[in-house]
Amino acid sequence: MSGRFITFEGGEGTGKSTQVRMLAEALGEAGVECVLTREPGGAPGAEEIRRLLVEGHVERWDGLTEVLLHYAARHEHLLETVRPALESGIWVVSDRFADSTLAYQGYGHRVNREEIRRIHRLVVGDFAPDLTLVLDLPIDKGLARAGGRGGAEDRYERMGDDFHERLRQGFLDIARRDPERCTVIDASADVKTVAETVRQIVADRLQVSLK
Ligand code: TMP
Repeated sequence: MSGRFITFEGGEGTGKSTQVRMLAEALGEAGVECVLTREPGGAPGAEEIRRLLVEGHVERWDGLTEVLLHYAARHEHLLETVRPALESGIWVVSDRFADSTLAYQGYGHRVNREEIRRIHRLVVGDFAPDLTLVLDLPIDKGLARAGGRGGAEDRYERMGDDFHERLRQGFLDIARRDPERCTVIDASADVKTVAETVRQIVADRLQVSLK
């Protein structure tokens, strides 16, 4: 008995959090027990590490330090939240997972991607999501949406346009290389249309009946 693990990925302001919530509701209505979680975060220690990453000065960390902090948070998240849920048959829907490190720190900050893969193998091993939905949006639209939200968690939003364009292309590249796991969704459509597309893909790929 094992639950399914679904991750949402994408750049700033692509609407992931809303879509994660809407999918969790649809799964709940279909009688599928699921937990909604996020990275960085999703467990008490991981939420503490999150603050170090998403607040403060843009240049406060070296790229490799960021990778290590994200993977430290991920280790806690897997240990405390993701694996226990899946092992008891509960589905997990996560707002971001490891593709974000490859996209943001690897493609964005240009940390050596082979080094990131080595750390990934150490912390995550062969474990992988059953399905990853990459929400894709031109960076100007995404940053305008994200900027409108305000708040203190804007460290990554304040990084330059080149950084955001590199990580957008990074997510598309990751999805192209792993089509069995990843599907790219055009996030420029309205919220309901994107949610409907998400439900169809989840229903098709994971054999669950969703309204
Ligand atoms: P959020 O705004 O989607 O909650 O994510 C927090 C920020 O952390 C977001 O700007 C992307 C960034 N991030 C990384 O740079 N690397 C990672 O591995 C993860 C999970 C998030």
